[in-house]
Amino acid sequence: MDSSLAATVTANSLASCILFLLTVALILVVRHEHERKSLPPGPRGIPIVGNVFDVPQEQPWATFSNLSRRYGDVICISILGQITIVLNSISSVSDLLEKRSSIYSTRPNVFVSISQALDWIWGVVFKPYGDDWRLHRRLLWRFFQPNTIMQWQSTQTREARHLLLCLLEDSSDLKNLIKLSLCRSLLSVSHGLPATRLGQQLLDDPFDAAQDAMSRGDASPSILNQLLDAVPESQVTGVTEVTAKEISAAVFAAGADTTIATMTAFFCAIILYPDVQTRAQEELDAVVGPDRLPQITDLPSLPYVKAVVKELLRWHSAAPLSLPHGVTKEDEYRGWRIPCRATVIMNIWGILHDPELWPDPDAFLPDRFMKDGSFNDEVFDPANIAFSAGRRTCPGKHYAEASLFINIASVLHTFNIMPAVDERGLPVPVEHKVTTGIVSTVEPFEYSIRPRSEAAEALIRDSTRLDCA
Ligand code: HEM
Repeated sequence: MDSSLAATVTANSLASCILFLLTVALILVVRHEHERKSLPPGPRGIPIVGNVFDVPQEQPWATFSNLSRRYGDVICISILGQITIVLNSISSVSDLLEKRSSIYSTRPNVFVSISQALDWIWGVVFKPYGDDWRLHRRLLWRFFQPNTIMQWQSTQTREARHLLLCLLEDSSDLKNLIKLSLCRSLLSVSHGLPATRLGQQLLDDPFDAAQDAMSRGDASPSILNQLLDAVPESQVTGVTEVTAKEISAAVFAAGADTTIATMTAFFCAIILYPDVQTRAQEELDAVVGPDRLPQITDLPSLPYVKAVVKELLRWHSAAPLSLPHGVTKEDEYRGWRIPCRATVIMNIWGILHDPELWPDPDAFLPDRFMKDGSFNDEVFDPANIAFSAGRRTCPGKHYAEASLFINIASVLHTFNIMPAVDERGLPVPVEHKVTTGIVSTVEPFEYSIRPRSEAAEALIRDSTRLDCA
C-alpha cells in the first residue's frame, strides 16, 4: 500500500471512529434526557458522570436542602449512572419509606458490596431486606421496645453517674469521657461486660470476652445471654449462636457513634444558649431537689429537660442523611418513575432544619416544645425523623432517648457548663460547626465544666462506687 492510500485509509478510520463516538454520545444524551423526564426533578447534570459536580463532598445535606427549594421536596440526582432520590419532606418520607416500606427497605447493592468487602455483612445495618434481616430486627425489637428498655435503666443510670464522677475528676477530654461512658453502657447491655478494653474485632472479641465472663459467673444480664438462652429452642426461636453473636455486636457497633455525637453536641448547645441551662437547672432544683440525682422515671416531671432532648435531636443531626435505602421494585410516585434499584436518601438534617416547620431552625430553642409550662405533645416529634422512618427505623431509638435524657439531666443537675476563658479572661467563642460523614459530630470546641456546688460534688461522689481509671 502506497503512503497516500495508507493516509486516506487512516483518515477514513479516524472519521468512522469519531462518527461512532458522536453517535454513541448522542444516543446517551437522548436516552439521558428521555429517562430524566420521567424521574423526579433535579439539576440536569451531564451525561455519564451525572450530578457529580452539583453535590459537594462537604455537608451535602445542606446542598440537597438548597436544591429542594428550587426543584421541590423530592429531587433526583444521578452519580455515575446511579439514580438517587432525595426525600426532603415529612410527607414524602411518610409516603415512600413508611406507606410503601415493602419496596423501599433494602440497602443499595453498592452498600452491601462494601460491607461484604469490609466483612461487616453480619451487621443488621448492612443486611439487604429479607428473612435474615427480618429475624435480626424482630429479635432486636424484643430488647428495645418502650416497655422492654426498662431492663436497661439501671445500667444507663449507673453509667451516667460514672460520667459525672469522671467529669469531676478531669473534664479536659470531654469527647473521650462521653465515648467511654456510652460505650461502657452499651457493652454492658449488649454483652454484659464491665469494660471497653476490647480488641479491634467487633464481632468476635466481645463475644469471646463475654463467654469467658459467663463461665466465671461474672457477666451481667445482657442481650447476648438472653439470646444464648434461646439457642436450645432454635427450632422455635430461630436464634442460633451466630445470630446471638451478630445481634449483640450490632447493638454495640450501631448504637455508639450516633449517641456520642448527640451527647457531645449537647455541651456545645448549652455553651451557646446559657439561658437553656438556667431554665433546666431551675426545673431540676424544683423537681429533683438537692438531695438526690435524677432518675429516668423523673422524665414526665421534667418537661423542660425533655424539651432540651427533643431540641437536641432536631438541632444536631447525628445521622444527617440517615443510611441509604434501595428500591426493590419499580414504582410511580406523584407521576414520576422511581426505578428499581434506585437509591433513596432521607435528608434528616434538611427536614429538621426546614424553616417552614421550625422557625429560626439554626437556633437551639427548647421552648418550641413547651406550652404553658408543660411539654406540648402537639408539636411534631423530631425523633420521628432523627431516627429515620419506615421498617428500617433505628431500633435503638427509645433506648437512645432514655440515655440522652439521663445523661443530660444528671449533668445539668450537678454541673455548670460554660465557655472557656482565654488569658485575658474573655470567653472563647464557640460555634456549632459539624463534620461530614455518615455520622456527623461537632468539631472540637473549648469549654469549662465546674460542679454547681460542694453539695453537688458530694452527691456525685456518694452516687457511685466506680472510679475513673
Ligand atoms: C441519638 C442516637 C441515635 C441516632 C440519631 C440513630 C439514628 C439511626 C438512623 C438514622 C438509622 C438508619 C435507619 C435507616 O436506614 O433508615 C439507624 C439505624 C440503626 N440504629 Fe440507630 N441511632 C441512634 C442510636 C442507636 C442505638 C443506641 C442503637 C442500639 C441500641 C442503635 C441501633 C441501630 C441499628 C441496629 C440500626 C440498623 C437498622 C437496620 O438497618 O435495620 N441506634 N439509627
